[in-house]
Amino acid sequence: MSAKSVYVSRIIPESGINLLVNAGYAVQMNPLARPPGADDLLAEAGKHDAFVCQLTDRIDRRFLKTAAPKCKIVANCAVGIDNIDLAAATEFNVVISNTPDVLTESTADLTFALLLATARRLGEAERLVRAGAWRGLGMLDFLGSDVFGKTLGIVGAGRIGTAVAKRARGFDMNILYCNRNSNPLMEKLGARRVSLQELMQRSEFISLNMPLTEETHHLINANALAGVKRGAILINTARGAVVDQVELIKALRDGRLAAAGLDVYEKEPTVAPELLAMENVVLLPHIGSATVTTRNRMAEMAASNVIEVLSGRPPRNPVIQC
Ligand code: GLV
Repeated sequence: MSAKSVYVSRIIPESGINLLVNAGYAVQMNPLARPPGADDLLAEAGKHDAFVCQLTDRIDRRFLKTAAPKCKIVANCAVGIDNIDLAAATEFNVVISNTPDVLTESTADLTFALLLATARRLGEAERLVRAGAWRGLGMLDFLGSDVFGKTLGIVGAGRIGTAVAKRARGFDMNILYCNRNSNPLMEKLGARRVSLQELMQRSEFISLNMPLTEETHHLINANALAGVKRGAILINTARGAVVDQVELIKALRDGRLAAAGLDVYEKEPTVAPELLAMENVVLLPHIGSATVTTRNRMAEMAASNVIEVLSGRPPRNPVIQC
């Protein structure tokens, strides 16, 4: 009997590949030096027993219909699963798994890195030094905002939102959060659950930590931004599309928002030229989980889910379990 085939849509850390190879699978890597497009993926559908994918891959109905029944699992190497048509996966009996927990702390660290970078204007200051334009310490140069004692509003009180709240406590911040349900872990950290409107009105820093769903798409829209506390700073390490980018740019232009720290964008890897031109916006290339340890763990987790399912067992991290 020939070895089962696993298609890996983009390079992942070797530890994940090694698990698959050691389990006896024929691993085929996407040979393209870019993320596969919908047609590239479709060309592989129906040929493999499992796919290890990235959030940049569109796992849509057409793909899943063609990939099944040979394909038993799509293991997303990400915690977010907004790139996958879950209804179609259920319809065609394809297990979907993700990589929760292992990236929580790294992503919360990056959220805080952006919060500090925007509050203390690190991007602008660093650009000045690199440009050879620094003329020595100036008492009025690069005056930013304090972080301690300020109010942080966290939208989305899941694992990452809660990990952000833990860090905020260490910085003596007041914490508000907005979530469908109250979260006892958040309450234990002294965070208070409020409506989105109240959170926007009262927070000096706003951190977006919710998944992208139909409900959260453009949650931060003209209406939400109309009520923001003047001079607040917005941090987004969730998904670009939870914010209406046109409205974000307007709010940054007219000073309702003093700054923004963005790791994610609506149409990655495109970044709006308006944002690129703004000194008060810190822009990162979707690196929330990008530490050596975390990325290794994500790859290993995705590989383990494939191994479980191809061995006839349930996945360890099911999103959809057939
Ligand atoms: C990153 O954005 C992830 O969903 O893992």
